[in-house]
Order: sequence, then structure tokens, then C-alpha cells
Amino acid sequence: MTPSTPRATRISHIGIAVEALSGSIPFFRDVLGLPEAVLDDADGASIVGFTAGDSLVELLEADDPASPIARFLAKRGPGIHHICFAVDDLDAMLERCRAAGVQLIDEKPRIGAEGKRIAFLHPRSTGGVLVELSDH
Ligand code: CO
Repeated sequence: MTPSTPRATRISHIGIAVEALSGSIPFFRDVLGLPEAVLDDADGASIVGFTAGDSLVELLEADDPASPIARFLAKRGPGIHHICFAVDDLDAMLERCRAAGVQLIDEKPRIGAEGKRIAFLHPRSTGGVLVELSDH
């Protein structure tokens, strides 16, 4: 669905893979003082969000050893896991990525942690960064 007023592409959130939420929350909540945002768990991970201006920081802790976050932690350790861009027309952007030869992880949008439609692009096509696209 195309919104009536285009808002242009912006950074929606940055996902950070952590070994334990309890160890990482105090820095973002108490030291940086970021307000907590309520998010759904997704993809076998527990997620805690913090608002930073127009964007969020999402801390991702694996619940399931087979989850993408558990695999990422085993391979690369804690750190930035993905960057999510909110776009005006997700379906059109996915089509544009497909036409440009970008490898899609999600061929069709699905519902993400914020309850919005999302789709992931493969890091192979994006300079080594896992990119998520989302509705605004
Ligand atoms: Co995300």
C-alpha cells in the first residue's frame, strides 16, 4: 500500500545481537537514557527496543539455538546484526531489488517485530550488511 504522503526512505532501526539482554539493557536504558519501546519477539529471538530519535535500537537475544541470531552469535559474536530501512512502498522496493539482481531472503513481505511488514535482503548483495526493509 502506498501512503498518500511519501516519507522517503529512512533508518527504522538497527538490530544488535547480544548474548544476554540483561547484560546489555543497562547501557542503552540507564547510561544513554533511551526510552524503552515495546516490541514483539520474532524469528526465535527475544527483542527489547529503545527509541533514539526517529529510529530504534533493537537488542536481539536468541531463544532458540537454531535461530538466525544464535547462528550469527556463534559465527561472528555480538554486534550489529542488521539495519532496517523503512520505505514508502515496500512491494515496489522489493520488486526493484529483484530486478536489480539483489538476492532476497524473504521473497514476500512478512510481519516483523514492530507489527509492520518487513523483508530481508541477503548480505551478499548489500556489501556484507544484512538489510531489512519495512513499511513506515
Ligand atoms: Co529488524
